[in-house]
Amino acid sequence: MSLDGYAFSRPHLLSIGDLNRVDVELLLELGETYCSKGPYDQVLDGKTLINLFFEKSTRTQTSFEISGKRLGADVINMAVENSSVAKGETLLDTAATLNAMRPDLLVVRHGSSGAQALLSQKVSCAVINAGDGAHEHPTQALLDALTLRVALREQGRDLTGLRIAICGDILHSRVARSNVKLLNMMGCDVRLIGPPTLIPADAYQWGVGVYHDMEDGLRECDVIMMLRLQMERMSGAFIPSKREYFHYYGLNREKLAYANEAALVMHPGPMNRGVEISSDVADDPEVSLITRQVEAGVAMRMAILHMLSEREASA
Ligand code: NCD
Repeated sequence: MSLDGYAFSRPHLLSIGDLNRVDVELLLELGETYCSKGPYDQVLDGKTLINLFFEKSTRTQTSFEISGKRLGADVINMAVENSSVAKGETLLDTAATLNAMRPDLLVVRHGSSGAQALLSQKVSCAVINAGDGAHEHPTQALLDALTLRVALREQGRDLTGLRIAICGDILHSRVARSNVKLLNMMGCDVRLIGPPTLIPADAYQWGVGVYHDMEDGLRECDVIMMLRLQMERMSGAFIPSKREYFHYYGLNREKLAYANEAALVMHPGPMNRGVEISSDVADDPEVSLITRQVEAGVAMRMAILHMLSEREASA
């Protein structure tokens, strides 16, 4: 797969920061072809993909499994709680063991930032970061961009100049960090909205606008991306109560009206209804892209697996 002679040559997918604009365009272009119904060429026939998830997941793990299978790969889901990790084996020993079984693709989610980058130096297969702590979630940002690209085309526009607000628990969100990098690269105007306690101290250096008030922040926005309060990463009290949080930062019809008229709403899931988003907004197909994000997630991951496996073949 190449775009005007440029070939995707990254050995792993660890961070959006490792990609350039052409890499992203290539991935989105291929992702878009996988949005169509199959049958698909079995480009991963004979390849083995291992899903290694040290943190909980519904969408990400399942979509990698489905994506791999749709392209003909053998997919193994390691149940970490039943593995030797539960007996105290280190991440690197687990990786070395799996590597000896010669997988082609290793999809890893881990609670520590940088775990996959370390692991990628120790294994001979392609490593895909499916979320590392609060650091990055590159495949989520790519699937979000694919969702937007397809939905915006229906409105006769693209991502360039798009004004997008990412709202809520930015501090603990790897989705926000990957999306800020990717959306900035695509020429979007990115804003962060959240209470001061949930905005990272260095966010002012991310090339984004920072707002603490939904009415100010949502003004003239084309897209609103809501985030979950990541309670599992919080030690101590970051918000007074969920009820008060919804009052100030939860997206409902009233706050949606602050944005542009045809504004679209996104959420990576899992959603906490009534905490960061109301059900009537989340479930309204006229504004909500949430189900379409899940659909695009499978297509985008097919494209990522395809690209990385080609690199493997030519390496
Ligand atoms: C996100 C994650 O795990 O970072 N979920 C996902 O992959 N769709 C966001 C979250 O957990 O809130």
